[in-house]
Amino acid sequence: MKREKLAAVRGMNDLLPAEAPLWEAFEARAIDVLRAYGYRQIRTPIVEHTALFARGIGEVTDIVEKEMYSFVDQLNGEHLTLRPEATASVVRACIEHNLLYEGPRRLWYMGPMFRHERPQRGRYRQFHQVGAEALGFAGPDVDAEQIVLLKRLWDVLEIGPVRLELNSLGSGEERARHRAALIAYFEAHADQLDADARRRLHANPLRILDTKNPAMQELVRQAPRIADYLGAESRAHFERLQELLAAAGVPYSINPRLVRGLDYYNLTVYEWITDRLGAQGTICGGGRYDPLMELLGGKSAPGCGFAIGVERVIELLREAGERGDTSDCDVYVLHQGGGTYLAALRAAESLRDAGLDVILHAGEASLKSQMKRADASGAELAVIVGETEAAEGKAAVKGLRARGAEAPFAQQRVVPLAELGEAVSAALAAMSASNAQPGT
Ligand code: HAM
Repeated sequence: MKREKLAAVRGMNDLLPAEAPLWEAFEARAIDVLRAYGYRQIRTPIVEHTALFARGIGEVTDIVEKEMYSFVDQLNGEHLTLRPEATASVVRACIEHNLLYEGPRRLWYMGPMFRHERPQRGRYRQFHQVGAEALGFAGPDVDAEQIVLLKRLWDVLEIGPVRLELNSLGSGEERARHRAALIAYFEAHADQLDADARRRLHANPLRILDTKNPAMQELVRQAPRIADYLGAESRAHFERLQELLAAAGVPYSINPRLVRGLDYYNLTVYEWITDRLGAQGTICGGGRYDPLMELLGGKSAPGCGFAIGVERVIELLREAGERGDTSDCDVYVLHQGGGTYLAALRAAESLRDAGLDVILHAGEASLKSQMKRADASGAELAVIVGETEAAEGKAAVKGLRARGAEAPFAQQRVVPLAELGEAVSAALAAMSASNAQPGT
């Protein structure tokens, strides 16, 4: 009986080996930059109680209303959800483990998030974020620091121009007054509202500002602006942030309509946007969420953070021709079976002792066909343990890439097994130094 083929769930992607090096390169650089600013890793579960997100992100948001993978645990009746984001989880973990007891924290995380959105380029149902949360810091200096961190990351990644849009949502009180003004304004123009906006009018009028409906753009443009409702403290926070960004040389523009899709924000909100990804051009979003800790049952403490959409940044890197380290190993070891295999095995282990990545040819094949595999593996060097070499306790080493006659092992050379690790390491170090030198 032929069984039906099973495919991955729509909007959820396999990361195949050809693509993985690019992800690894991105992740390594992101972690480097996060560590350069004192961030430490936190890992939270992928499944949380549904109430965490309903309360944390907000009942009247797209995410909670229609994008969550929520289910009832068949075994104990608990209402659970695959995390659509990680800020609520990190704050929950901080409360649960009293992480702020010893002072404020800078935390980073990465991993899959789940939202039941309509899949398209740059938008998936399982996607990945690298994010950071700074908890216990109230001042705009940390908002600025995170933005500077992100600018550094974009520069390190060389992903080309990304613009920063910034807004301040003020305090809860200020938002309440702005909200009342918005409701009054939209009620006065009720005939111009679409169904979505009408539904949101009383529950979450701020989100109407986010509408993509072309027919409502003018209406939204004329709507009361939060900036006109900010009190002295909120204005000072926003102004200081701008001063710090200017001093750090980070260009930005203020977008008074930037409201973000999650309800926990106050004061600073921002997005980094590129024009090179079509409709899904936001590669990172973040801001301050001072009310969240208390909202989730903890002692009040300020917080701010961001999350980067990994798939989107990866696409920019791919377009820039970046591929990551696509080689399988540094050295490919060939042998002629029988006794030579044992000598080759020892040679491979000694190379691994020297810290090298090594593939030892598995199974028996002609040296010619092993050489083809060695070439395809991306290795710089082949180590050949033939009958003669094995008998003499030696191995032949040969460069696999065209690097000129002067390059180490440009000509095949025999090396005693006892010296193999050192000789091969030195050769690889010389090759990578010559790679790093411009014009060679
Ligand atoms: P967010 O704006 O919902 O914020 O998501 C952050 C980023 O994740 C987006 O800018 C986008 O690049 C990426 N992203 C979101 N949804 C998808 C999707 N369906 N497919 C592909 N990429 C996607 C948050 O999640 C907040 N937790 C950020 C934050 C942290 N705010 C404070 N701290």
